[in-house]
Amino acid sequence: MHNLKTTSLHVRDNQLWILDQQALPQQQNWLPAHTVDLLVGHIHALRVRGAPLIGLSASLLLALLAENGLPKAELAQALEILRASRPTAVNLMNNLDRMKQALAQDEFVIALSTEALRLVEEDKILCKNIALAGCELVKPGSRLLTHCNTGGLATAGVGTAIGVIHRAFEQGNVANVWVDETRPLLQGGRLTAWELGELGIPYQLICDSMAASLMAKKQIDAVWVGADRIAANGDVANKIGTYSLAVLAKYHDIPFYVAAPQTTLDSNCPNGDAIPIEQRSAAEVTGVAGSFGALQWAPENAAVYNPAFDVTPAGLISGWVLDTGVVTPEMVRDGVFRG
Ligand code: MRU
Repeated sequence: MHNLKTTSLHVRDNQLWILDQQALPQQQNWLPAHTVDLLVGHIHALRVRGAPLIGLSASLLLALLAENGLPKAELAQALEILRASRPTAVNLMNNLDRMKQALAQDEFVIALSTEALRLVEEDKILCKNIALAGCELVKPGSRLLTHCNTGGLATAGVGTAIGVIHRAFEQGNVANVWVDETRPLLQGGRLTAWELGELGIPYQLICDSMAASLMAKKQIDAVWVGADRIAANGDVANKIGTYSLAVLAKYHDIPFYVAAPQTTLDSNCPNGDAIPIEQRSAAEVTGVAGSFGALQWAPENAAVYNPAFDVTPAGLISGWVLDTGVVTPEMVRDGVFRG
């Protein structure tokens, strides 16, 4: 496979490297991800994260393993191990379904490589089209709130919700972005703050609990988030804390938009109750860890509840901004997301 580089993936000399998203922004470390064990470890630890990026990293690794001589039967096993690495973001399963079809071909080495590269190129186009569709909804002078990280780090392209914000900013329509820090793993405080800074977009970082008072003070004009899975009825799984923002936005009469590519749709999933929600370790909540070290503040053996995602019901969403355009609540009720 030819060398390629996105914001957080790098193929060099037929090996995969990932930008460690747990060390950012203090350190920019590229780590090897040339075996299934290595990549699955990175995915579990969220060194590789974000719905589109997980699927792309798994697809690229499979293609590279094939080029480096792994037999078909072992590639099939590797595919299933990668598929099980995280349960909520459906992009991983959707990408690997396509890789499985490529693996079934006689010329599977070429087919896998072609398909993985196609997925990367497609993701760039999906992001661009989401941004084009979404920026039309951003009014001049907008003060936007976003949650988690949905930028170039999480995709091969300009991102989803951040892609929209970036394009709207280029058009002169974004006055400020409120960035939820996104406890427990701080994707907002570490990654979104860093990306917006690099893009020159003005932002202010807030604790997740501050959004309500900002809305009450009329400091937020719209909320923009990404998605890990969109069910057939329009319910959306996204980073924990998204649902509470949607409830708050409804109460304060603020538009709440979800930006996502086609690869995030799961028309086989009837509604949010059927979306598997990943539960994560207690250590993420009892303290904090990062490139600066680790700190625990909760008592030893504190009981913890730590779902990585929550589900926002379709009724709280003002628009689903896909690469194909803006989907309205009426279109969702008419069944646009059903298979
Ligand atoms: O646990 P993470 O960091 O992988 O969760 C990521 C999110 O929830 C993002 O909002 C979502 O994947 C959209 S990324 C374009």
